[in-house]
Amino acid sequence: MRVMKDPAEVGEYVGMLRRNRITCGFVPTMGALHAGHAALIERSVQENDRTVVSVYVNPLQFGAGEDLATYPRTLDADVALCAELHADVVFAPSVKAMQPPGRVTVVTVRGVSDDFEGAQRAGHFDGVATIVARLFNVVRPDRAYFGQKDYQQTVVVRRMVADLAFPLDVVVCPIVRDPDGLALSSRNRYLSPEERVVALRLPRALESAEMLVLAGECDGAAIRAHMAAKLTPADSSDAPDSADAVERDGIDADVEYAEIVDPMTLTPIERLTGHAVLLAVLRVGTTRLLDNRIVAPPGTPAWER
Ligand code: PAJ
Repeated sequence: MRVMKDPAEVGEYVGMLRRNRITCGFVPTMGALHAGHAALIERSVQENDRTVVSVYVNPLQFGAGEDLATYPRTLDADVALCAELHADVVFAPSVKAMQPPGRVTVVTVRGVSDDFEGAQRAGHFDGVATIVARLFNVVRPDRAYFGQKDYQQTVVVRRMVADLAFPLDVVVCPIVRDPDGLALSSRNRYLSPEERVVALRLPRALESAEMLVLAGECDGAAIRAHMAAKLTPADSSDAPDSADAVERDGIDADVEYAEIVDPMTLTPIERLTGHAVLLAVLRVGTTRLLDNRIVAPPGTPAWER
């Protein structure tokens, strides 16, 4: 496996692949790789002749006051994991290489970028779309792999690929969770053991809302209210009989949003008639935890994305 820092070196490598009709899968990441990233890399290795993994903490997608400076950087361990998983190239460029002097072009994917993460984190999806477009142009993959974990990001990237005719397929892989249900995230390491208990409300609330849907509930407002109740301390399973457990433990938790939306447009659903996505963010202490779940009323045919 090779580690490349220079985009020109990657360009040469993928040029050789394309001339020889060797297929290339691409997994963009910000490093601090865990089993969620590993699942994307494994899928790419299965489906393509070669796999390129990028490791780049992209300053453009961090807002002021976010964790850019402290975001975990573990390149040696990341490279070792990629080698173990049989990736072929780790592309780990410098900020200078990814932000050319005089850079003024920004890719904005309107509409689907506006709400949820876009509303909470101004400019975030411009930063994602701009860097993903640049990475796609450097790596020129046949397929690019993203996790359902960042559901809105998959919608933004798919829209950009369709609108700008990037010649590649976007593949979205299922969320990888810890055995207790918490979706894996590089930011989980910031949680104290007590905060982690509170964090479990998030996957449990989404699972419980799915049960409600499977039991026949189709009213968007009722599903929203159910999630909100499960995410608030008084009704959460970690504090079954104490409304003030959170204050008592000194853990501050806040539901930033808990919605049921259309899977393609992300507009809120009033009446469920087919597939929908439960999207939620719970802030526990200073850590924002994202999760989502695709749901559908009983008997809905499988969803082809
Ligand atoms: P990062 O947060 O490192 O995530 C890289 C990819 O791993 C994303 O597609 C994300 O959805 C996926 N991923 C993370 N946790 C996962 C989990 N528990 N299960 C399945 N997949 C998971 O997302 C980014 O980086 C950046 O925005 C990037 C696309 C690299 C652009 O900078």
